[in-house]
Amino acid sequence: MIDASAVRPTSSVQDRSAPTRPGIVPARRGATVDVAGLHRRYWTADGSLDAINGVDLTISPGEFCVIVGPSGCGKTTLLRIIAGLDRATSGLMEQHGPDGRPPTNAMVFQGHSVFPWLTVRQNVSYGLKLQGVGRRERGNRADRLLERVGLTRFARVYPHQLSEGMRQRVAIARALAVDPDLLLMDEPFGALDEQTRLRLQEELLRIWEDTGKTVLFVTHSIDEAMVLADRIVVMSAQPGRVKANIAVPFARPRSLTAVRSDPRFAPIFSQIWDLLRNEEEIVSPLPLERV
Ligand SMILES: Nc1ncnc2c1ncn2[C@@H]1O[C@H](COP(=O)(O)OP(=O)(O)OP(=O)(O)O)[C@@H](O)[C@H]1O
Ligand SMILES: [Mg+2]
Repeated sequence: MIDASAVRPTSSVQDRSAPTRPGIVPARRGATVDVAGLHRRYWTADGSLDAINGVDLTISPGEFCVIVGPSGCGKTTLLRIIAGLDRATSGLMEQHGPDGRPPTNAMVFQGHSVFPWLTVRQNVSYGLKLQGVGRRERGNRADRLLERVGLTRFARVYPHQLSEGMRQRVAIARALAVDPDLLLMDEPFGALDEQTRLRLQEELLRIWEDTGKTVLFVTHSIDEAMVLADRIVVMSAQPGRVKANIAVPFARPRSLTAVRSDPRFAPIFSQIWDLLRNEEEIVSPLPLERV
């Protein structure tokens, strides 16, 4: 374990060639993440605020871990610290890539994850350029991923010429292009219409099944969490900590319809909803008429 207040983003990325299917890197295991007693305090003009305090979380290589929790409980804060974009105030964090090397990561946010001044293809190959990957290989990998997310026809257009769902697909392709050991996704489908969301959930599941990456995914949707996750981490109200770990038992490869019609779906949904409802009551103790 290392002191998480001193963690830096890792940037070493290896070129894994010879994809087995279009846009797909050879199957392998992802990163391991281990955090203990993680605490982040923010200071503002009104004083200090503990966004998270005492977060303990271990994510296994190749695990699809989904975090749910009340608004403001520190989900984004936790992801940013794990991504190396922010520092913990105190606590411990350890991350390992496959073969013990430092892991690489990529983060997809809700919206704002693409550069508006670059074309779709340039966006997808941007991270590879930073890593010094040659022009031809960059182009090949970008093209394979654009095919994978169904955007080949739009390679030369700019993000403002796309729909929101298409922009989010560019963001996912961009994150996957650098072949991260750890994919961090912060409500990536939150602003999308239901049909696009379902399609992207399915596509993400297929990509995850093919690549074996470790995924840490934040959502407000219990339904989405249950469809995607191996394990759902329920966080308490701010200051956030891990309140419960719920194993999701549905078989892989998963189909969205099979999961929803599984007799175990409703009881697990209720269990998570009860946990969240208790926390929401902590966050909103005032009856509406008194607000
Ligand atoms: N840079 C910052 N400076 C001060 N306070 C911050 C900062 N970033 C986050 N916070 C506070 O930390 C707490 C947790 O914020 P965070 O964005 O991590 O929550 P969240 O769980 O992602 O919420 P949501 O579900 O609404 O996205 C909030 O109270 C927020 O106001
Ligand atoms: Mg957030």
